[in-house]
Amino acid sequence: LSKIEIKLSDIPEGKNMTFKWRGKPLFVRHRTEKEIAAEAGVDLSELRDPQHDKDRVLNPSWVIVIGVCTHLGCVPIANAGDYGGYYCPCHGSHYDASGRIRKGPAPLNLEVPYYEFPDDDMVVVG
Ligand code: FES
Repeated sequence: LSKIEIKLSDIPEGKNMTFKWRGKPLFVRHRTEKEIAAEAGVDLSELRDPQHDKDRVLNPSWVIVIGVCTHLGCVPIANAGDYGGYYCPCHGSHYDASGRIRKGPAPLNLEVPYYEFPDDDMVVVG
């Protein structure tokens, strides 16, 4: 299937769920108010791959990224690492709760796929 539909009310606030899409893991994260505020406030000059949080999300409550580390392709662990977003255990890359690389060998932020919200409780990726 080239597209995947995900029901958002199945994902509680503070949780990340992993789906399979086009043969890759897809992360859908329901952020807390604290995470939203923290990521919106990050100084872009601190970032290796500078991208504002608002340019990575359509709705600040939801982060939707490909769950493939941009170093050598391992699957990061959610809600882990020094920045509370994702941690890749293969060689120690730390991503924030926007999926941006913050520390470790990975060169780029986690990739944001094309997606849309056809209604308040649904995201369609692809
Ligand atoms: Fe993730 Fe190397 S593959 S840190």
